[in-house]
Amino acid sequence: MSGNLFGEIFRVMTFGESHGPYIGVIIDGVQPGVPIDLLGIQDELKRRRPGQSKLVSPRKEEDRAEIVSGIFEGKTTGTPICILIGNKDQRAGDYKKLQHVLRPGHASSTFLQKYGIFDYRGGGRASGRETASRVAAGAIAKQLLQQRGIKIFAYTYQISNIEIETVDLTEIEKNPVRAPDPKAARKMIKAIENAQKKGDSLGGIIEIRVLNCPAGLGEPVFNKLEADLAQALMSIGAVKAFEMGDGFKASTMKGSQFNDQFYFDRKAKRFRTKTNHAGGVLGGITNGEELVMRIAVKPPSSISKKQQSVDYAGKTIGFKIGGRHDPCICPRIVPVAEAMVALVVIDHLLMQERITEQKGIPHLESMIRTIDTQLILLLKQRLNLIENIKERSDKPIDTKIGKLSKDWYKKTKTINLPPKLSNVLFEILTKYS
Ligand SMILES: Cc1cc2nc3c(=O)[nH]c(=O)nc-3n(C[C@H](O)[C@H](O)[C@H](O)COP(=O)(O)O)c2cc1C
Repeated sequence: MSGNLFGEIFRVMTFGESHGPYIGVIIDGVQPGVPIDLLGIQDELKRRRPGQSKLVSPRKEEDRAEIVSGIFEGKTTGTPICILIGNKDQRAGDYKKLQHVLRPGHASSTFLQKYGIFDYRGGGRASGRETASRVAAGAIAKQLLQQRGIKIFAYTYQISNIEIETVDLTEIEKNPVRAPDPKAARKMIKAIENAQKKGDSLGGIIEIRVLNCPAGLGEPVFNKLEADLAQALMSIGAVKAFEMGDGFKASTMKGSQFNDQFYFDRKAKRFRTKTNHAGGVLGGITNGEELVMRIAVKPPSSISKKQQSVDYAGKTIGFKIGGRHDPCICPRIVPVAEAMVALVVIDHLLMQERITEQKGIPHLESMIRTIDTQLILLLKQRLNLIENIKERSDKPIDTKIGKLSKDWYKKTKTINLPPKLSNVLFEILTKYS
């Protein structure tokens, strides 16, 4: 199974299944000496874990992050960071009865067709549990971003057809649906409880925003920032759509409405746009405005309502799913979405830092060293050629150089080489001819 690795510089590999002893993540590419707040990792995991409220799966997982390597005395060592998260509250028996049934909306049928084998105990790699590893890695990415003044936050924007009307960021963690509008949150909670009572589930929309994201992140062709963000967010189970800025609504707008008008912000000393329909990205590259994106989350497939399907032998079967499931995944996807966006932004930021570092003094010094080496090699090549001429001709070589002197001074003058340097070089060259 490939595709467990994510990122170019800040590289993340997650491993483990929902009903194995552990899940976890290895993070490679973090510079040494970066302070990491371990409690910060735990706080993020707490936001994702099940059992936080009546609106999510009651599975009791502490999701305690065990740091196995890469962090020493609160700082990164520059070696791979390995984080393990134990799976404690497994009840594989919940899934035993349905192990031969193709559960609608689940990944079991496609896993079976692809691999010929499927770990029926709760989704295996396809389980939402895998996202705990992403949240742990994302927590580290978020800390690196925070150290650079960049902040990422997400919230529930819509559940079923109930949309938020106001955005108060201080409200997000105060309600179990993680909505920034307390009035809409109350309606959303009611809607989820009603669906739950009927043995059903609900979907919704999550909005993710990145504050203080610098201009210049993203590559112009295949790794456009929005393309990488879409990939990251669409890789989360149950996410069915992605949009950046005005997204799908842009298709109904006129150019005159959609175009974000530029102005020069004297205080910030940079170009800005008066509106942000593009969502902070132009040509795949961030423009310094806030990044705004949304994802659509499907209603979870594990519902207790009676459903119909077929078993592996093709026999039609009526069944009900037991076990502990989320009636709406949105509140738990909020920290996962933040983590995935953090992984993309830190990766592009580190790539960009490599480019901008190349314009710094160390890079220029290294370029001088390269040129010096090239000069030495060229001088050697010149000496070899002179030797070659001497072997073939009796005429004194310096007369030829003498003829060249006019040409030499003309050339050095055209490129404005200081006359003193031109003289010294010409003297050396004629001396060794
Ligand atoms: C945090 C999290 C929790 C999830 N919990 C459930 C759940 O309780 N029941 C369920 O049917 N799907 C749940 N899912 C979604 C499934 O993982 C997902 O629908 C399944 O793997 C099929 O993938 P797809 O929906 O992307 O096609 C959860 C996903 C996440 C990210």
